[in-house]
This record gives sequence, C-alpha cells and structure tokens, in this order.
Amino acid sequence: MQPQVLTRDDEERRAAFAADIAEALCRRPRQIPSEYLYDELGSALFEAICRLPWYRITRAELSLLARHARDIFRPLVRPVSVAELGCGSGEKLAVLVSAAGERFHQVQLVDISPAALDMARYRLQAIGIRGIVAHHATYEQGLIRAAQQRPRQGSLVVLFLGSNIGNFAPPVARDLLAHIRRSLRPGDALLLGTDLVKPERELLLAYDDPLDVTAAFNRNLLRRINDELGGNFDLESFTHRATWNAAARRVEVHLVSARAQRVTIPAAQLDLDLGKGESIWTESSHKYEPGQVLEQGLAAGFSGGEQWIDQDAKFALTRFTAGGP
Ligand code: AVI
Repeated sequence: MQPQVLTRDDEERRAAFAADIAEALCRRPRQIPSEYLYDELGSALFEAICRLPWYRITRAELSLLARHARDIFRPLVRPVSVAELGCGSGEKLAVLVSAAGERFHQVQLVDISPAALDMARYRLQAIGIRGIVAHHATYEQGLIRAAQQRPRQGSLVVLFLGSNIGNFAPPVARDLLAHIRRSLRPGDALLLGTDLVKPERELLLAYDDPLDVTAAFNRNLLRRINDELGGNFDLESFTHRATWNAAARRVEVHLVSARAQRVTIPAAQLDLDLGKGESIWTESSHKYEPGQVLEQGLAAGFSGGEQWIDQDAKFALTRFTAGGP
C-alpha cells in the first residue's frame, strides 16, 4: 500500500474533525455531527439508501423534478444559472436540467464530498452540460463562492434538494434559508425539497431498513473515526436505532452501545466510558407540513412560494422567489 500523503488542507480538515468529535462526544446526550456521515464510503452507502424501496425521498423528488421542470423555471429571467448545495451524485440536477429543455448559462456544484463532486461533474458532462464550476465546500462557504462566481446577467436558482434542510433543527434551517436569501438578487429563486410528515411506520422503515443499509451508513461514522482519528470503536458492539419524535417532528438516529465499554480516540485526546444501552445521537431528520415549509421561507425573507407535492410519498418541492429590496 502507498504511504498516505496528507496535504495542509487534509491536516486542517482532520484537526477540525477531531475537535468536533471531541466536543460532540462529551455532550449529554453524546453526539456525532451528521455531516461526518459523508466520506467516500458513507456517500456510496447513502446512494444505496436512495435506491431502497423504503426510502422514497429520492424517487419522489426525481419524479416531481421531471414533471414540473418547465414550470419551475418558467417565471425566471433568462439566461438562468443554477447552483446546487449538496449536489451528491448530480442525479437530480441532471434530471432537472434535461427535463427543463433549455441551456443553462452556468451550473455550480457544492458538496463536502470530493467523490460526490467528481461523480456529479462526470454525470453532467456526459449529458452535454458545459460551464460547470465545482466547489468542495460546506453549504455556507459554497453559497459565498457561488454568489461571487455567478454570471452578471440573468437569474440564479439555488437548489437545496433531497430534504437536506431536514437535517437541521428548524431555527438553524431558517438561518440557513435566510443566508441563501441574502446571497440572492431580486428575481433569483430557491428550489427547496422537503420531506413531509407521514405515518410513523413508514418513517421507521425508511430510517431502519430491513437490509440494514442505513445501519451500515450510521456505523460507518465509527469506522471513519477509527480510520482517520485512530479510534478503537468496536463496530459490532453498536446497534443502529431510529425513533420518531412526534412532538419535535423528527426521526432521531442513534448508535447504541450494546455493552459497557471504553473507547479511545487518540487524535481527539479522548477516553470515553460508555454504559450498556448508552447511545450516541448521530442524526436528526425533520419532517414538515407543507404550510410550515412556506412559513419557513417567508420568515427567511423570501417573498413568495409555489409548491408541487407528491401526495403519495408525501414530499414537497417549493420554489421561493427573492423579491426586491
Ligand atoms: C441527506 N438526508 C436528507 C438524509 C435524510 O433523509 O435525513 C440522510 C439519511 N439518513 C438516513 N437515511 C438517509
């Protein structure tokens, strides 16, 4: 095996990872920030989740995008450019752009996973999209860069799809929407994909699937900490658990320690004593009612919202417009 050569960027990212892990694992309840789910293996496992019969978000959104692409772009000033926050493999953008039947001036991709950015760029180039700009960045950094690098003329549509907004607590989600609004000019738009509240049984199957792909996606966090920070988590002694918190309207995802154990993470200077049954909270997935999505957008400073809803899968696409000053 080749020795691993770490660049300064890699070192900084690893130090930030170690600091975040040290802080979150010492909280009560113990936590690991869900953004760390998406390393190369995590992104591949998430792609597999999107194909599971019990996880309907991706299919519902793809079919709404294909069906309504022309309506989504109809009121916008030409030429239209798009910037997708958290583009993943680029599948949704490819479907939207193809179904819209027009040439986009520029396409900007933002993702924290370099593997996802490569996949998205390759996919879009394969269907003849030119003018692709990729940003290996968080949502916030990516928004700043997308606003700086957008073309002067025409309008910009920011895509925030896949119910990624659901992984933030509602007040944080509102701040993020407000940040998006501030990066836009009058006449621009935000296309937001949001998973809606649905029966608990469906939600639990979506986040604790019978093939255990979501369990593997969750446990991969521990594998990543072991590989990158020298941790010694015993993956087999953690159970994946998903519960529906009806009051907070969110699915909560945990890793539960099956026995009392000590875990050491040298790069985070951490020795952790976990009791039997003690859990580490790794993700929350908030679900909305359609009206709450509209309220969130208006509270964030957008002026109007138009919605397209899949009533069967219970998923909403909302186009918010940025009004004048
Ligand atoms: C990326 N995000 C919107 C997914 C969700 O549904 O919250 C992540 C996921 N976690 C487990 N399954 C899917």
